[in-house]
Amino acid sequence: MHSIRIQLITFITAVLLIFLVMLNIYPITSSRDLIFEEKKSALSSQAAVVASSLSGLDRLGPESVGEVLQLLDLGGFSRTVIAAADGTVVYDDGGAAGAVSENEDVLAALAGQCVFRSRFTEEAFSSSYSMPVTSRGATIGAVQLCEHDSERAELISAIQSRLMRFSLLIGAVALVFAGLFSTVLLHRMRQLVESIRIVAGGNYAHRLKTRGSDEIAELGNEFNLLTERLEDTERQRRRFVSDASHELKTPLASIRLLSDSIVQNGTMDAGTMREFAADIGNEAARLQRTTEKLLDLSRLDDGVQVISEPVDLKQTAVDALAVLRPLAAEKDVKIRCELDDGCVVMANTDDMFHIVFNLMENAVKYNVPGGSVLVSAKNEDDKVLLTVADTGIGIPEADRLNIFGRFYRVDKARSRASGGSGLGLSIVHDAVLAHGGTIAVGQNKPQGSVFVVSFPRPTSEETGI
Ligand SMILES: Nc1ncnc2c1ncn2[C@@H]1O[C@H](COP(=O)(O)OP(=O)(O)OP(=O)(O)O)[C@@H](O)[C@H]1O
Ligand SMILES: [Mg+2]
Repeated sequence: MHSIRIQLITFITAVLLIFLVMLNIYPITSSRDLIFEEKKSALSSQAAVVASSLSGLDRLGPESVGEVLQLLDLGGFSRTVIAAADGTVVYDDGGAAGAVSENEDVLAALAGQCVFRSRFTEEAFSSSYSMPVTSRGATIGAVQLCEHDSERAELISAIQSRLMRFSLLIGAVALVFAGLFSTVLLHRMRQLVESIRIVAGGNYAHRLKTRGSDEIAELGNEFNLLTERLEDTERQRRRFVSDASHELKTPLASIRLLSDSIVQNGTMDAGTMREFAADIGNEAARLQRTTEKLLDLSRLDDGVQVISEPVDLKQTAVDALAVLRPLAAEKDVKIRCELDDGCVVMANTDDMFHIVFNLMENAVKYNVPGGSVLVSAKNEDDKVLLTVADTGIGIPEADRLNIFGRFYRVDKARSRASGGSGLGLSIVHDAVLAHGGTIAVGQNKPQGSVFVVSFPRPTSEETGI
């Protein structure tokens, strides 16, 4: 749980450290290099002045050199060394003259090279420049100018220590902020984890309070949305279980009552007994229909994609009509069909039959004596349209949104009396959606309802026709 904080602080410290080290090193080294450059150019031009003044002499001797240097009046150097061509030091204001020089820079200058050296210590910049003295093309000696600059060194040291103090301050402040930031971040993450635990424990009504609009707030909002959907699903599930139990309870209670009556009444005549047995059979048939529909719905819920095949709507409607004819005759309802050829949909034959049959069955069941049903199928642009219109009792506008819900019936008593379970349209709805279609319900003019189902029209490649 603490690892994210450690990771964060480690990361911030590493970045900070790199930044501060750069801050301490870069300005100091670059200003030191600048001073080296400046020293080189100043010393080399001064050394050149001395060398050209001495080049007028035939030979470098202590007196003649002394005179020239006096005339030049060199100031600001910590040491001036002049050596003759044979290496003898003829002038040295910082050591003894007369001996052969052992100074390698002076020896290199006698060999014709210019040598610059500069060193920076905490106290001073110590620099020297050595160059040959030439006269008429020949090296007649060498000059070395040394300088000791403590002023600049002090300045650089002062900047260095100030930068160091400044860095420590920045480092401390940044670490405090990183600590605070990670604490707040961690606290918010913990709240989120805590909420997840609460919801995982079954409390779907729990919501996380989110503030701001950063990523964690976004995560919180997404979590709340997810919980809302979970709550909704859970509510639906509970309602479904209670509705389903209720639906199964009623016919079971009737069966129980009827069978009890038969068992307890020892003198029941054969005719009544047969009547009771027929009622038991009807209730059992209703139970069977309901459980079959529930199984269909659960299969559609699973979302297992059945293999799609080209299904001809005309054929499906003709099949459904064959089954419904007796019911239509009983209800005195006429069924008319306007089915175009070639209305093919990529779907599952059984699902398609359920869709067409349930819509047609409702149109007959909720119709009036002498009423009619019009079933039509046609291709329109990139859609295949199936319309089932009736002249029946119609569906009140307020109920139209709910009729696709499970166990929903507009007129409970009437629908149940006709053996309806309130599942037919749920199956239609889920099956239409499973095959990429849409369904809408409206009012039929002047009377009744109209259901319009639209499916995407398959390409000839898909149908293979
Ligand atoms: N064409 C229609 N005209 C009037 N009301 C309808 C029509 N179709 C459906 N309804 C209403 O919508 C309700 C739900 O229909 P649905 O087909 O889902 O259930 P059902 O017909 O009652 O039972 P089931 O179809 O499961 O046997 C019906 O109970 C009925 O009240
Ligand atoms: Mg129905």
